[in-house]
Amino acid sequence: MTKKPNCRRAAAAMLAAIERGKTMDEAVDRLSDLSPPDRRLAKAMVMFALRRRGDITAILAKYIKRNIPGRPHLARALLNIGAVQILLMDIPDHAAVAETVNACGRGEAPYRGLMNAVLRKLVTEKKNSDSADSTKNAKDNSHGLNYDPLSNFPEWMALQWQENYGAEKAERIADMHCHKPPLDLCFKSAEAVTQFMDTLTQAETSDINSQQLSPTVLRLNDSVDLETLPGFDAGDWWVQDFAATLPGIWLDKLLADNQQTDTHILDLCAAPGGKTMQLASMGHQLTALDISASRLGRLRANLSRTKLQADIIQADIMADIPESSTPSLRGKTFDAVLLDAPCSATGTIRRHPDLPLHRREKDVLKLTEIQKDMLGRADQWVRVGGVLAYVTCSLDPREGEAQLNDFLEHHPNYEACTPTGLPEDLCGHLNQGNEFGYLRTTPADWHYMGGMDGFFAGVLRKIKP
Ligand SMILES: C[S@@+](CC[C@H](N)C(=O)[O-])C[C@H]1O[C@@H](n2cnc3c(N)ncnc32)[C@H](O)[C@@H]1O
Repeated sequence: MTKKPNCRRAAAAMLAAIERGKTMDEAVDRLSDLSPPDRRLAKAMVMFALRRRGDITAILAKYIKRNIPGRPHLARALLNIGAVQILLMDIPDHAAVAETVNACGRGEAPYRGLMNAVLRKLVTEKKNSDSADSTKNAKDNSHGLNYDPLSNFPEWMALQWQENYGAEKAERIADMHCHKPPLDLCFKSAEAVTQFMDTLTQAETSDINSQQLSPTVLRLNDSVDLETLPGFDAGDWWVQDFAATLPGIWLDKLLADNQQTDTHILDLCAAPGGKTMQLASMGHQLTALDISASRLGRLRANLSRTKLQADIIQADIMADIPESSTPSLRGKTFDAVLLDAPCSATGTIRRHPDLPLHRREKDVLKLTEIQKDMLGRADQWVRVGGVLAYVTCSLDPREGEAQLNDFLEHHPNYEACTPTGLPEDLCGHLNQGNEFGYLRTTPADWHYMGGMDGFFAGVLRKIKP
């Protein structure tokens, strides 16, 4: 008889793989032998362990005096997986302790007793804390676990947020990163949103809690199986955070204000195609370029499901684009060029809680050099009178505001466009009062509605050759 795969052990294996440098996407194969419900449970355990890593480490340090090596066995990861079940999840204490201890294999055997004792101490601490504090923080469900949002992130990152956004906003950003974000759907049209809502209302079983954030963005506040939602097969929508839709709204409004019709946009760094689909659904002609064949595969699948069109080029924008590329970019200029540049992605930590483990401050410095070179290359495809839109999902102004300020300084033939069509409270210059300049979002913005990813966008018009 084959042994049933163990949910806790698989979760610990995934967590340990991430701690050793794998991304969440690479490490998720550790859950592949589990049944779908066990896979969901194991994934939730890993997400809690990543999001509250600092808090969990601090409470475990009270009880573990000797170092538990992370290799070759899973004892340390299993302890974290045990702790999140007791302190953060709705799992009965006895099951959390017993099942986690039973997930020990031969490699973890020397730590079985210690694990049992520590997890039981956490149960006792939780019970004492719950009875002492009947007004416990319901949002965090964190019985006995000290909640210090910023301590869950590397010191350099927390310091950057404090320096750039002030202590209060930095704390709020960290708080939002510690929680599961809502899910935003971007629709092809406002009519598609109405149709979606009508279908949901008619389905008596559905009680999905939703809110409309813009004419084409709907926020779902409950966990859902995407493929069962109305309009999935018809390709009426795709998943895209509200903040990620704002650069497209700005660009579309700017082109419309200039009464430009039949506009052609070059989307550099396009895959997996969120912004390509959005701009194509608004009626623009798109040429989508990306270096990555596998990511372009996802872009093609996205376009095919949503029945939207774009010309696709696989190329490195830092090298000469082959003349044979179809369509050819040689000597060609566009009404708008969108550069959604590779960045540290710290604005998306809510969805990628593994990211703080892997990012170093020196990565940001390296990326700012790449972005600067990419902006310089993008210029050649912008026609005079056309616009260059620069976007990153980083919270670091070195990858946003400072990058565009520097570009403007060295390119006097460009001028910054004032944001249009966007919520004004999200636009301005960081640390320069409320001057209406770039788009800057952080997870702390609209936090009372579930927040949004951190994004930067600026649009520059080329006024001279
Ligand atoms: C932030 S992602 C783009 C997200 C996309 N715009 C969207 O909305 O779905 C950055 C993309 O840049 C691409 N990229 C990185 N270096 C590149 C290069 N030298 N030339 C072209 N694409 C590049 C990556 O493959 C990645 O898909």
